[in-house]
Amino acid sequence: MNKGKVDALLGIVFGDEGKGKVVDVFTPGYDVVARFAGGPNAGHTIIFEGKKFVLRSIPSGIFDEGKINIIGNGCVIAPDLFMAEAMELETAGYSIKDRLHISKRAHLILPTHRVLDRAYEAAKGKAKVGTTGKGIGPTYSEKASRTGLRVGDILEGFTAKYQALKARHEQILKDLNYTDYDITAEEEAWLKGIEYMRQFPLTDTEVELNEVLKAGKNVLAEGAQGTLLDIDHGTYPFVSSSNTVSGGVCTGLGVAPNTIGEIFGIFKAYSTRVGSGPFPVELFDETGDKLREIGHEYGAVTGRNRRCGWLDMVALKYAIMVNGVTQLIMMKADVLDTFPTIRVCVAYEKDGVTLNHMPYNTEGWNAVYKDFPGWQTDLTKMTSPAEFPAELNDYIKFIEQETGVPVTIVSVGPDRAQTINMEK
Ligand code: GDP
Ligand code: IMO
Ligand code: MG
Repeated sequence: MNKGKVDALLGIVFGDEGKGKVVDVFTPGYDVVARFAGGPNAGHTIIFEGKKFVLRSIPSGIFDEGKINIIGNGCVIAPDLFMAEAMELETAGYSIKDRLHISKRAHLILPTHRVLDRAYEAAKGKAKVGTTGKGIGPTYSEKASRTGLRVGDILEGFTAKYQALKARHEQILKDLNYTDYDITAEEEAWLKGIEYMRQFPLTDTEVELNEVLKAGKNVLAEGAQGTLLDIDHGTYPFVSSSNTVSGGVCTGLGVAPNTIGEIFGIFKAYSTRVGSGPFPVELFDETGDKLREIGHEYGAVTGRNRRCGWLDMVALKYAIMVNGVTQLIMMKADVLDTFPTIRVCVAYEKDGVTLNHMPYNTEGWNAVYKDFPGWQTDLTKMTSPAEFPAELNDYIKFIEQETGVPVTIVSVGPDRAQTINMEK
């Protein structure tokens, strides 16, 4: 960690890499943890001492009682879901109200944004994005079209602004012929959520963060989603609606590029994707089913089956390039414990053409694999890299050689304790 700097921990594939777990593990080394993009489409799982939490909007640094957590201006927030999430933490005994600060510039997800999300998906027919249905796309679209409602509006003429925006949404839905919805109960919970949010510091978090940095303290920026779901660099249009890459840290928190320190790029020892879109390494056979079963690859937010496949070095190298990754973190190595052979996609192939770099559109490209012998050893109780089997060391060495970036953490289980620092 770097004093006076913002380090970023970013998912560099299709999300669900294990960001929540590692942010929780890293938090003792930081003064502030901040989310800079996304909203309740995220589902970050943290497991310790037999307890499990899934966080959506609240940063994963919240379990360290002394630390400030920030929901930055680049985020979108659903007051009803936020209230449910925050109350779960309060019920579990965590005091959060004074140390969870929310940017006045973050945008609010209205109940009608969620209806619009469903309506736009329905209108797409077969080309559905497979969104989480949390209103993310409509809320970010509204931000870009300068008609959105922001957290700061809770403090300034809120009701009139809300009613006007809701009426606008109702008109759009009518024009789309999408009238079969009822938000009465949802709206009631949402308005309660607005009142609940007033109990938290709603602040100019960009000013706060810059003061923290000026005082020589350090910040951990927690990514949501992953690089291949980034609105600019992902597999458009099958992406989310925010910048999930390192550039998004600056715009999503209001910190300058020269404040950025380490960029931790987190990935699984294999690949998953949830939702639609091209996925060249996807396995449709029993190996894919085995990865899903052993890795419990079911969505933390929607419960959907995650699509599974082998590690994709072409995608990984692209993500490392656009993010400027300085350290790699490999998660879920233990999921591969029983596989006799482990494959890695090293190139894409289509109609006799081989590509070593990520094309503009990955649709229709097939994976070219390199095979590695599996370690066939239980990694879950290991605590030091000295215990690692030779096959795992070879696998890691290959990734480091191909990417030119060191793998500094290897995770061997979902618990906080199952995290191995490679430098020790
Ligand atoms: P995030 O969205 O990036 O925070 O990741 P998710 O929480 O959506 O998905 C990661 C899943 O893998 C969660 O269920 C974690 O509990 C689990 N997990 C994290 N690290 C490991 C690991 O090293 N091994 C195994 N077996 N599970 C892990
Ligand atoms: P975390 O932070 C995995 C996917 C959805 C869909 C696409 C667009 O837990 O890694 P959206 O609701 O954002 O408009 O959906 O993006 N998606 C995720 N996949 N992990 C996530 O977050 C995701 N957030 C969105 O499945 O394909
Ligand atoms: Mg997740």
